Amino acid sequence: MSYYEIQGGRPLEGRLTVQGAKNSVLPILAAALLAPGEGVIENCPDLSDVSTTLDILRLLGCRAQREGDKVTIDATALGRCAIPESLMREMRSSVIFLGALLARLGEAELFYPGGCQLGPRPIDLHLAALRTLGAEILEDQGCLCCRRSRKGLRGREICLSMPSVGATENAMLAACGCGGTTTIVGAAREPEIVDLQNFLRSMGARIQGAGSSLITVEGGAPLHPARYRVMGDRMAAATYLCAAAAATGDVELTGAEGDTLTAVLSCLEQAGCEIHRGENLIALRCRGPLRGIPPVRTAPYPGFPTDAQAVLMAALAGGEGSTMFVENMFESRYGHVDELRRMGAEIQIDGRVALVTGVGRLRGAALRGTDLRGAAALAVAALGAEGVSTLSQLRHIRRGYEHFPENLRSLGAEIRELP
Ligand code: UD1
Repeated sequence: MSYYEIQGGRPLEGRLTVQGAKNSVLPILAAALLAPGEGVIENCPDLSDVSTTLDILRLLGCRAQREGDKVTIDATALGRCAIPESLMREMRSSVIFLGALLARLGEAELFYPGGCQLGPRPIDLHLAALRTLGAEILEDQGCLCCRRSRKGLRGREICLSMPSVGATENAMLAACGCGGTTTIVGAAREPEIVDLQNFLRSMGARIQGAGSSLITVEGGAPLHPARYRVMGDRMAAATYLCAAAAATGDVELTGAEGDTLTAVLSCLEQAGCEIHRGENLIALRCRGPLRGIPPVRTAPYPGFPTDAQAVLMAALAGGEGSTMFVENMFESRYGHVDELRRMGAEIQIDGRVALVTGVGRLRGAALRGTDLRGAAALAVAALGAEGVSTLSQLRHIRRGYEHFPENLRSLGAEIRELP
């Protein structure tokens, strides 16, 4: 089993172009099956979650081919509507195929999704939204059989009691295949939802409002394949910025918009980093140890993203002063904390609250990745630590980060992958 060996304490300097956004590209690839014909998705990161999504598309009868960062999808021969359990278990976002298949074929058969273990991750809001649009859904031993009712799919008002990213996306895709108008009230406002809307528009969909909590879809418009460039990955950007904050340095990231990361950037500023935002550019300079900051509470966008909680915590754990984290989105998203403690971190957990007391400098240790962002956080901590760390369970990193060690090396980090 391969692992990273990381020599901590090297300042990070230089420029990096951030990969395409994982959380955008997965729903966009599922949305590509809405129209027959050949479409092209650009800036498509090479991640294991993307490979799994392409495998699902092929299994359903689509042609899917990667060439560099471009993926060509031809959904003309889409003929199957069932996704086997093994593929569904690979990643949670596979649930997005429910809305897409319902819109194109009027039926879908899949299993409860897998993904990172962050506590219960229900899909009740997804199912309620699809039922509102006229889907009949039978649940049998983990299998979900979903088909349009005899009356067919019809646009309606969907009210989400929580701004779930996945439920909003599923509702958007299904609504494209419904006659009439669908309104999604209480929609998630994440930039990746805007990206999905832009992609659907490029396919001819009549959809507006993404970025606000009210999305309107005039369904039934004939869709066509499109060529589309996926937005930059703000969570990968947050990770590299936190790495430079932990290890000190001066980095410039292109390909991600500072406006989509305001909550994270303001935390880094309060911790003592200098941040400069330009068009499609975020720069960070960090000269000394990080300071403790006011409580960080994860929340739906534009609040502090749960996906950046672990990487920021890892940076602050090796700084000075205390910071309280409150994880409001997922029940158990502190899997990285035990590993950080091996490095000498002082972190107390009480339910959803974690109190981090900076210890000045963490020490290198043998670490195991626990989940996608948790594993990235351990790499961040190791880059800032004294001495050598090893990090295993790299499959978590490969789910969400393209060329991770190469990118860090290009910034001067000492990190290598060993078999
Ligand atoms: C998405 C992101 C994930 C990110 C998360 C929060 C993708 C592929 N994944 O996940 O990286 O960490 O948003 O920004 O884009 N909930 C319910 N019922 C539901 C659905 C959600 O109660 O049917 C709850 C969840 O338990 C959670 C909250 O709503 O507390 C937000 O979850 P949601 O936004 O749906 O997250 P995901 O779409 O799973």
